[in-house]
Amino acid sequence: IGRTAVLRREAVLATVPVAVAALLGAAGPAAAGTTGAAGAGDPYFPLSGNGGYHVSHYDLTLGYDTATRHLDGKAVLTARATQKLTRFDLDLKGLKVTGVTVDRTAAAFRRSGQELVVTPRHTLRDGQVFRVTVTYRGTPKPVTDPDGSADGWIPTDDGAFVAGEPQGAMTWFPANNHPKDKSSYDFTLTVPKGRTAVANGVLRSERTAHGRTTFRWHQAEPMAAYLATATIGKFQVERYTTRDGVQVYNAVDAREARAAAPVLKKLPSVLDWESKLFGPYPFRAAGSIVDHAPDVGYALETQSRPVYDRAPDLSTLVHENAHQWFGDSVSLTTWKDIWLNEGFATYAEWLYAEQHGGDSAQKTFDALYARPASDHLWAFPPGDPGSGANIFDTPVYARGAMTLHEVRKAVGDTDFFRILRAWATAHRAGHGTTAQFVKLAEHVSGKDLDALFHTWLNTKGKPSQA
Ligand code: ARG
Ligand code: ZN
Repeated sequence: IGRTAVLRREAVLATVPVAVAALLGAAGPAAAGTTGAAGAGDPYFPLSGNGGYHVSHYDLTLGYDTATRHLDGKAVLTARATQKLTRFDLDLKGLKVTGVTVDRTAAAFRRSGQELVVTPRHTLRDGQVFRVTVTYRGTPKPVTDPDGSADGWIPTDDGAFVAGEPQGAMTWFPANNHPKDKSSYDFTLTVPKGRTAVANGVLRSERTAHGRTTFRWHQAEPMAAYLATATIGKFQVERYTTRDGVQVYNAVDAREARAAAPVLKKLPSVLDWESKLFGPYPFRAAGSIVDHAPDVGYALETQSRPVYDRAPDLSTLVHENAHQWFGDSVSLTTWKDIWLNEGFATYAEWLYAEQHGGDSAQKTFDALYARPASDHLWAFPPGDPGSGANIFDTPVYARGAMTLHEVRKAVGDTDFFRILRAWATAHRAGHGTTAQFVKLAEHVSGKDLDALFHTWLNTKGKPSQA
């Protein structure tokens, strides 16, 4: 009773400063310089992320009713201001916000498209650590991306497939929704008994009472919002610890179990192989969520535990787990650099085949290079996809991998594998840019690779020489 009363009181208080905030907004330039930007400055997704603060931790408490598809949420964000802030934004799409507090004091808020605009009672100092609590509810819906695909909270017949690349995190929690910002996470997920709710990291507890089960997950290593999941379904669960001490949790929809089993069995050996190539596995947890979500059409490298819309083949398992190093541990600072994720994960597939009795990477490269100049593969250069509509398109994946193969040919195997490992190690739990990768490759090999990268990453059309 006490908690409800507090929430109501905050909701009432919140309505007063809204008018004040509107007046401040109308004051125009006077307020500039102390309001957090509505976006993180990404040219492809200008409203993704926000300016003026970093989030160090998300504590998400969610209840989901799989029958009504209703979500009840409470998000507690621990953040640090990077400028004086009279106002800041979070990203949240859809859902109804019932209250916002900043450091336990009710804050004014309003919705503007995907921006949740928060005006704290007291101005935040540059460097100040503050805590934002958002209570919200409603029926989450996925976002439609520029390429027409859906991501975010995607309801299924027995729960929800939850994958947020590039924009979908904001469909189920208020986020600083850009990979520039990485944070640790706690999830407390309550679902009807009989359903399993799987998030990132390690399972802290699982308790059933009054017909509902609560799963508590902890993701300790920093994670970009788009890699968070809270996938729910009727799952068969398998748990074990690898020889390296990594806690594995696999959740598999019964309808996919038979096809998934032989592939999931290989997870420890795939992680082992990738660790030998890329350096130690970056997280303390691993695993797979194999859902039955026929309308989704993709898998996602959700951190520590990729989510698959169906039973994956071995190559897909290799791809999503390679992303744990390339994309998850080493994050993008701009979506334009997406080849650092997809080109690398695709090249990991080629290497896996080459070292496990399949085609050599050279053979895979040759088959692609044989495609005519009119082929879609050459539609745009992978280092400059041009817009968010192209980030998951063939040139990013295949020509991105071809770029790495060209680097390998130029520097030789020893230096090439040194480069891959050095990249994952130097930027572990952080970020990397294309410029930094080029510099690293040149540094390790002692070669000038500018022309190679210029041709393969940034020049339109089919490169005339391979
Ligand atoms: N990163 C994913 C993969 O390559 C693809 C995500 C696609 N997302 C989307 N909204 N279409 O495994
Ligand atoms: Zn990928």
